[in-house]
Amino acid sequence: MTRLTRRAKLSDDELLHYISTDDPAEAEALFARARAEREKYYGADVYFRGLIEFTNYCKNDCLYCGIRRSNRNVERYRLSVDQILNCAALGSMLGYHTFVLQGGEDTYFTDERVVEIVGALHEKYPGCAITLSIGERSEESYAAFREAGAARYLLRHETANEAHYAMLHPASMSLENRKQCLYNLKKLRFQVGSGFMVGTPYQTPENLLEDLRFLQELEPDMVGIGPFIPQSDTPFGGEPGGSLEQTLRMVALSRLLLPSALIPATTALGTIHGHGREKALLAGANVVMPNLSPKNVRKLYALYDNKICTGDEAAECLGCMTGRIKRAGFIPNMCRGDVALKRPRSVRLHRTE
Ligand code: 5AD
Ligand code: FES
Repeated sequence: MTRLTRRAKLSDDELLHYISTDDPAEAEALFARARAEREKYYGADVYFRGLIEFTNYCKNDCLYCGIRRSNRNVERYRLSVDQILNCAALGSMLGYHTFVLQGGEDTYFTDERVVEIVGALHEKYPGCAITLSIGERSEESYAAFREAGAARYLLRHETANEAHYAMLHPASMSLENRKQCLYNLKKLRFQVGSGFMVGTPYQTPENLLEDLRFLQELEPDMVGIGPFIPQSDTPFGGEPGGSLEQTLRMVALSRLLLPSALIPATTALGTIHGHGREKALLAGANVVMPNLSPKNVRKLYALYDNKICTGDEAAECLGCMTGRIKRAGFIPNMCRGDVALKRPRSVRLHRTE
């Protein structure tokens, strides 16, 4: 069977219909299809990533983001190499096998410093996957990170429409460069994560369709989708946020278009609804990213208002998430959780039997 025939072949019209439908029965049918698709590749497993938010300095000024450069109301912090290693040590003790180092675009963390951190983590935890989420850098920088032992990279494209991109970002940033970074990362054989926010100001259903089509073109291994949530100190502080329902439908559609992708039930979804993450799992997501950052800096990494889990210790978040996953009918899995081969499990089993 070719990959094309296995894929849900959804037309633009069908996608636009699901992007916009407000019929709960239709949405539920979509979620059921997405669950079945996820099941084929990953069963009921939900993978854990330990998130280390290591700097909230950022040289960029994205209009939606709480840690944008011109937000003077943020107390800025950077974790030291030792603090980062301590987070990973705690994570390792708790059973994590994936660490995600996420931060603003902080010029203090030069390539050399990032390489030092990645190298140290890689040496200490050779069985763990190291993921970077530190924004746009040159191909050479990405190559150095890969060489040092980083295997995965998260860089959401945010919106795949040029004009919309320009409404959300300062003129110094471009969709073209964003895409180039993603293709460079792929070329370097990173497992690549992209994604977008749902409900950002000026977003149209056609924009969301473009996001889905871009994902199909890029074929990322991971897709992060969360609702836009206004942050009060940003230019979009007074704008409405993205809806739970539409975000869930976008998760489900992404699962249908990229059936073997790793898709997180994002913290932003957990923030706009008490069971947002569980609902995402039921709409086709299969990853959670509990926080491993030190408790005293959690509140400072405020990309948006009312972010959850800022008052909890790492072990509490792990316990909480494990319980939530089980109650939702899924199986917590603390292994590395690499992306599945682009072939359903049942087919693989069949062939090796
Ligand atoms: N609401 C929701 N998500 C946001 N992000 C940044 N700011 C916000 C916000 N106000 C997302 C972006 C970024 C990721 C790390 O967090 O998509 O890529
Ligand atoms: Fe952090 Fe529930 S996942 S407290």
